[in-house]
Parts: sequence; structure tokens; C-alpha cells
Amino acid sequence: MEVFIDTANTEQIKKYYELGIVDGVTTNPSLIAKEDKPFKKIIEEIVSIVDGPISVEATEEKAEGIIKQGEEYSKINKNIVIKVAINEEGLKAIKELSKKGIKTNCTLIFSANQALLAAKAGASYVSIFVGRLDDAGNNGMNVIRETMEIFKMYKIESKLISASIRNPIHVIESAKAGADVATIPFNVLDKMIKHPLTDKGIQKFLDDWKKVK
Ligand code: G3P
Repeated sequence: MEVFIDTANTEQIKKYYELGIVDGVTTNPSLIAKEDKPFKKIIEEIVSIVDGPISVEATEEKAEGIIKQGEEYSKINKNIVIKVAINEEGLKAIKELSKKGIKTNCTLIFSANQALLAAKAGASYVSIFVGRLDDAGNNGMNVIRETMEIFKMYKIESKLISASIRNPIHVIESAKAGADVATIPFNVLDKMIKHPLTDKGIQKFLDDWKKVK
């Protein structure tokens, strides 16, 4: 399973990319808004750090506008993937962008049906929001499992991204379900790396090493 980091914070991206555990980045308008920098500058900085897919969200509502934004953003770098929210205008834009050879990440997906249609339209990635489904009283992981089953059955080429991940269990369950990608916030990556028994074990080895003659 590929690991993307779900943030627009370049310090976080740099830190985890240097560890060799990050294959790509996903951003969204809310994550960009948290940063005190101009949008283009953030994307250019991310491009200079990461050699892998970088999802940047289109914010226009009509297909024409989404396509125009997609064309503009994709010129920044070959690794840019255009995030497009699923609805009729979004599907239309995904179809056109895909014809132009521009990669897309269909976002805000909450059902296997939406994922299936995004794939039909030509989305390179489909992002299923596990955490937000759980928050709404649904089982986000069931949607991941169901979608993977369908994608495998029909050899669908779109990659499934397990998104809106809130804890390390979401990551394990996504990997077990065969998700192609998990896009993970930095605080969850941090929890995945650490274990109290590891810290205790390292300290004990260091202390004992001091006693070695
Ligand atoms: O990748 C989608 C993600 O950014 C949404 O996460 O935590 O806002 O539901 P969240």
C-alpha cells in the first residue's frame, strides 16, 4: 500500500518524506487555508520536496472552470493530480481532463456507487472519506472493502485512496482491505511510528551498553 501524507504543511511533508515513508501528498482547500502562505507558493514548495503524486483540489463549481483550473495546475509539475469533487459537473470534468492526459483524484466519495462512477468517468484515483463516514454513524471501512471488491472483480484501473483517516487502526484496516493508497495526517503517522515498548527497549539497551567492558 502506498502512503500519502494528507497535509499542506511543508515542514510536516519534509519531515516525513525524509524518512522514506511517504510516496505522495494530498491537499484540500481546508488544509491549504490553515497555512499562512499563498496557494501557489505552497504547491511549488511541495513539488520541490516530493517526487510523487501531489493532489491539488479544483475549486470551481462548473465543469468548464474545473477543467481550466486542472489545466493550469497541471502545468506546475508533471506530478500534480487534480482533485475533483464527485457530482455531475465533477464527473464531466474528470472525463475531459482524463482525455487530455491529466490525472485526477475524485474526492468526497462516501459510497461504492460514487467510486464506481468516478472510475467509469476516468478518475486516476478515488478518495473515500473513512473518518467522515464513521463520524456520521456509518462504517467507513465497509465502503473501502466493498469498493475494493468491485474494483478487483472488474480489474478497474482507478486507484483507491483511503482518506479522512483518523487513527492507526484505519490504516491497518485499509491495508488489509487492499486499498492502493492511504492518505494519512501527520499526527497519525507519528502514532504509527512510535510504541512505548520501543522507547523503553531503546533506553534499556543504551543503559546496558554503558556497562559493557
Ligand atoms: O483526504 C481527505 C481528508 O483531508 C479529509 O479529512 O479529517 O477533514 O475528514 P478530514
